[in-house]
Amino acid sequence: MQTKRGYFITLEGCEGSGKSTQSEMLKKYLAEIGVNAVFTREPGGTPIAEKIRSIILDGNNGAMTDETEALLYAAARAQIVKEKILPLLCDGKVVVCDRYIDSSFAYQAYARGLSYDFIAEINSVAMKTCMPDLTIFFDITPEAAFRRKGGADADDRIEQSGIAFHNAVYRGYKSLAKKFPERIVEIDSEGDIDEIFSRVKIEIDKLLRR
Ligand code: TYD
Repeated sequence: MQTKRGYFITLEGCEGSGKSTQSEMLKKYLAEIGVNAVFTREPGGTPIAEKIRSIILDGNNGAMTDETEALLYAAARAQIVKEKILPLLCDGKVVVCDRYIDSSFAYQAYARGLSYDFIAEINSVAMKTCMPDLTIFFDITPEAAFRRKGGADADDRIEQSGIAFHNAVYRGYKSLAKKFPERIVEIDSEGDIDEIFSRVKIEIDKLLRR
C-alpha cells in the first residue's frame, strides 16, 4: 500500500553531469515558490548511511567485490528510506534526493555487470514501496562531463573506474529512461546552466500541478 503524500524527486546522471549545480538551483526555486522541500543525497543522508558511504567510496577499498558494493548501496538506501524519506513524504514534504535506485541499476547492473534482477531484488527490500514520482536524468556523455570538470577526482574510488566504465553507466541510464518513460525525464545537460534549469523547471512545474 502506498502511504506517502509528498512528492519524491530523484536526480540522476554520470559524474560531472551538473546535478549538484542544478540541485542548488532547484532548492532556490522551490523555496521561492513556497514549496516545503527537503534535499538529501545517496549514498548517505543519515548518520548511519553516511558511514556506509565512507566505506563504499574509500579509495583504499579497491578489494571490494561488486556484490559487496551493491549490497552496501542497498543497505545505505534501506536506512535513508525508513529513517528519513518515508517519514518526510508521509508528512507531506517534497523530498529531492541526489541519486537513488537508478544509480544502482546504472552503476552496479549495467556497468559492473551484476544482474538487473539481483539489484531489483535487494533494492525492493531496501525501498519498500518508495519509488520516485519523478526522476530527472541529466543527460551528458562522460567524455563531455569530464572535459567540463577537468578530469576525475583522484581519491574517489568510483570516479577512478575509467572511461569505459562511465560510458557503460551512461548507456545504462539511457536504457533506464526507455524502460521507465512514465517516471524518468531526460534533460539535455550540455550548454548554459540557466537554459538547462529552465528545462528542469518545466518538469517540476508539471509534477507539482499533478
Ligand atoms: P558522489 O561523490 O556523491 O558522486 P556525484 O557527485 O557524482 O553524485 O559519489 C557517489 C558515487 O556513488 C557516484 O560515483 C555514483 C555511485 N553510486 C553507485 O554506484 N550506486 C548507487 O546506488 C549510488 C546511490 C551511487
